[in-house]
Order: sequence, then C-alpha cells, then structure tokens
Amino acid sequence: MSMENKDAIRVILLGPPGAGKGTQAVFISRSLGIPHIASGDLFREAQSKGTELGLLVKSYMEKGELIPDEITVAMVLERSAAPDCKKGYILDGFPRTIGQAKALDKALEDKGDTIDKVVYIKVSDNELLRRLSGRWICRDCQTPYHIVESPPKVPGICDRCGGKLYQRADDNEKTVKNRLSVYSSQTVPLIDYYGDAGKLVEVDGSQGIDNVAKAILAAVNPSE
Ligand code: AP5
Ligand code: MG
Ligand code: ZN
Repeated sequence: MSMENKDAIRVILLGPPGAGKGTQAVFISRSLGIPHIASGDLFREAQSKGTELGLLVKSYMEKGELIPDEITVAMVLERSAAPDCKKGYILDGFPRTIGQAKALDKALEDKGDTIDKVVYIKVSDNELLRRLSGRWICRDCQTPYHIVESPPKVPGICDRCGGKLYQRADDNEKTVKNRLSVYSSQTVPLIDYYGDAGKLVEVDGSQGIDNVAKAILAAVNPSE
C-alpha cells in the first residue's frame, strides 16, 4: 500500500445505457470532491475536437459498438494518472469488458492501489428506452437532462454552466437497441467479475434521481 493514496476512493459506476451513470456521477463527484471520468465523454470530446482518436472512434460510436479495448484502456489510464486523481475518481462507462477490467486491475495493482466499490445501477429495458429518447446533454459540461424527469430551468440551456443542450447521435432507437445488446453480451459479465471480488453493490436505479443518489452515497461513503 502506498501511503499517499491511503484515503483515496475509487468507484466504478456500472450499468446499461440510460441507467443514470452520468447523472449520478455528477452528484457523487461534487459530494466526494473527486473527478468524474467518463470514457464516452472523453471519446465525444475527441470527436468534437477532430483529433486522430476522434476520427478513429466515430464509426464505432455511431453504430453503438464498443471501441477496441487497447484504445479505450490507454485513454482512461492516461486520464486517471493526472494529478487531480490522487484522491481517487469515479469511473463512468469504463470498464465495460472483462479485458478492460483486468487491465485496470493490473494497472492499479502495480501501484499498490485498488478499486473500492463497484455500484451496479439496475434499471429495466423499457425504462432505459424512455430515458434515452428524452435525454438532452450539455455541450460544455456534459450534464444530462431529461425533458420530463429533470428539465433545465430554461429550455435548451444548461442550469450549471449556461451551455447549449443537444441530443446524442447514438440516442436513436436503432442504435440504442444495439447498445443494449452489446451491453448484455460484453458488459453484463462484469457483474459477476466484481461480485466475486466482493466489490459489487447493487442499487435500484428505477427510483427517482435523488433517491438513487442517496443509495449510491450510502454505498460508497468512505466514513462507513
Ligand atoms: P457512453 O457515453 O458511456 O454511453 P452509455 O453507456 O450508453 O450510457 P449513457 O451515457 O447513454 O447512459 P447513462 O447511464 O450515463 O445515463 P444518463 O445519466 O445520461 O458510451 C457511448 C459510446 O462510447 C459506446 O456506445 C461506445 O461506442 C463508446 N464507449 C464508451 N466507453 C467505452 C468503453 N469503456 N469501451 C468501449 N467503448 C466505449 O441518464 C439517461 C437519461 O435518463 C437522462 O436524460 C437523465 O436525465 C435520465 N435519468 C437519469 N436517472 C434517472 C432516474 N433515476 N429517473 C428518471 N430519469 C433519470
Ligand atoms: Mg453517460
Ligand atoms: Zn453545462
């Protein structure tokens, strides 16, 4: 164990597309004062900047397919090595294959670190479709809104930063269905992987946003 990281807290938010990973990560990040690392956000940022990585991942994301592990792991490990991650971080959307989970474990182990908790946010498929079809996201800070569940105060404008809201290109019905099937085949095995490691906490994600947040905070609270 490295001493300087003793108080660090590393949390993974695991769950299907639309489960509320991004929504909840914003809350937990603020309450625990640790950064939110979302692989999907990093890929979208690369696309909007038109970088080499952005061009490479575009066709995968449009189809709702996963980006190859090698690329994804390198990107997330680089981000999590930044100085603001010394006290830990919240991972949202990563890992989502067994290969990614093993690569993460190995990288942490090499530094004497570990993942503390994996929160599995469970939601039914019908509810996921309803959520994704009504979602709008801030172009600048990535905060998700929902036209019914959590509308912004001013239509089309982010409450937190004033940025413009947009709908994701992969939130159309066809791509959402593929994202759900990719989740079932490639990501669901992580539930057992982290369950066997004794790190999994299941949270009922069908509750209102505030209650889900309370349940997650109770599950990850370092003082407990
Ligand atoms: P990514 O961006 O990670 O998308 P995702 O996993 O499909 O998840 P979403 O962001 O759609 O859902 P969320 O759980 O964050 O829900 P949210 O909080 O917004 O990945 C996109 C693509 O990038 C992938 O398809 C892949 O191509 C690539 N990629 C990313 N990571 C990768 C990896 N590790 N490996 C390989 N490829 C990768 O909430 C959804 C909506 O519901 C919102 O409108 C919200 O307001 C509303 N809502 C939230 N909570 C509630 C609630 N409790 N009640 C009612 N409404 C709610
Ligand atoms: Mg998200
Ligand atoms: Zn914003």
